[in-house]
Amino acid sequence: MDKEVKILAIESSCDETAAAVVVNGRNVLSNVISSQIDLHTLYGGVVPEIASRKHTERINQVIEEALTTAGVGLQDIDAVAVTYGPGLVGALLVGVAEAKAIAYAAKKPLVPVHHIEGHISANYIENKDLEPPFMCLVVSGGHTHLVNVVDYGKYEILGRTRDDAAGEAFDKVARAIGLGYPGGPKIEKKAHEGNPDAIKFPRAVIADSEYDFSFSGLKSAVLNYINMAAMKGETVNEADIAASFQKAVCDVLIEHGIRAAKEHNVKKFAIAGGVSSNGTLREAFRVACEKEGITFYHPSPILCTDNAAMIGAAGYYEFIKGNVGDWSLNAIPNLKLGER
Ligand code: KG4
Ligand code: ZN
Repeated sequence: MDKEVKILAIESSCDETAAAVVVNGRNVLSNVISSQIDLHTLYGGVVPEIASRKHTERINQVIEEALTTAGVGLQDIDAVAVTYGPGLVGALLVGVAEAKAIAYAAKKPLVPVHHIEGHISANYIENKDLEPPFMCLVVSGGHTHLVNVVDYGKYEILGRTRDDAAGEAFDKVARAIGLGYPGGPKIEKKAHEGNPDAIKFPRAVIADSEYDFSFSGLKSAVLNYINMAAMKGETVNEADIAASFQKAVCDVLIEHGIRAAKEHNVKKFAIAGGVSSNGTLREAFRVACEKEGITFYHPSPILCTDNAAMIGAAGYYEFIKGNVGDWSLNAIPNLKLGER
């Protein structure tokens, strides 16, 4: 495609209200994120009702700012891309309704985007040379997917979590050791002061599906460790718990990821999603990939957690394939990757 394609992208699936303008899926002109984290911290997790209300309050302003920063008006936009699932239904609906209204009023095509496809596509933004096929590990608060990215928009899911997502495990363990929400960054910080080999937490193996994950046993092991210590009147070393737990999660993610890349003879490995902003995980992946002669890709931390630039990147590849939506587009909270 010779012409530049400018996409206005909107993301509101969880607790970030975000809008971005992206050119040809790779060049970000603006990326505005209004986070509600401070609000939800008060409750120890995301409160869906509050999330929807805040999205409604902030979305117009966030879109306005994305357009202004990019120096474009709606007339310059080629399409409006929006996350329509998976996520919290009330939160998703705010973005979907807004995108439909803008697309209708400005007479622009509407491009529905899968949130996980967005996370994967975040890797295209700063790695201009990255093209499928590659292996991608998506680790966020709601998802843990090991995906073989066969082509743009074509995914083969090799493994997924049987219970908690990796980010969810970070959040729950952080709560248990009194660090609060969101757990990931707080565990990472605390872990720097601890010994990752101090406590041997279990690494779950799933017998019937070699690439699947399970984190609820690990979470229970941490809770048992804390409860046992309390019963014996012993104090626990929170930094050692954080470091040992983080290592247990990283070990499993890396072992499955590298094995999948080797067994599928894929020489490129990317990570995505909120947990992939974890510095210890990134460094461990870098080392493991280097050892196997695999090129390692990762987005900047701001593009790992929820944002709209990634939706603009994924939306571009959907748009050029002609995957546009109509006015009946609805939010699909449990949308599966690869489904439309
Ligand atoms: O991708 P994301 O922003 O939202 C979802 O789509 O779920 O991911 C949020 C998750 C939270 O569970 C948060 O604790 C985790 O990503 N997270 C981290 C880090 N930063 C965010 N986990 C581990 N280490 C981090 N530095
Ligand atoms: Zn996400």
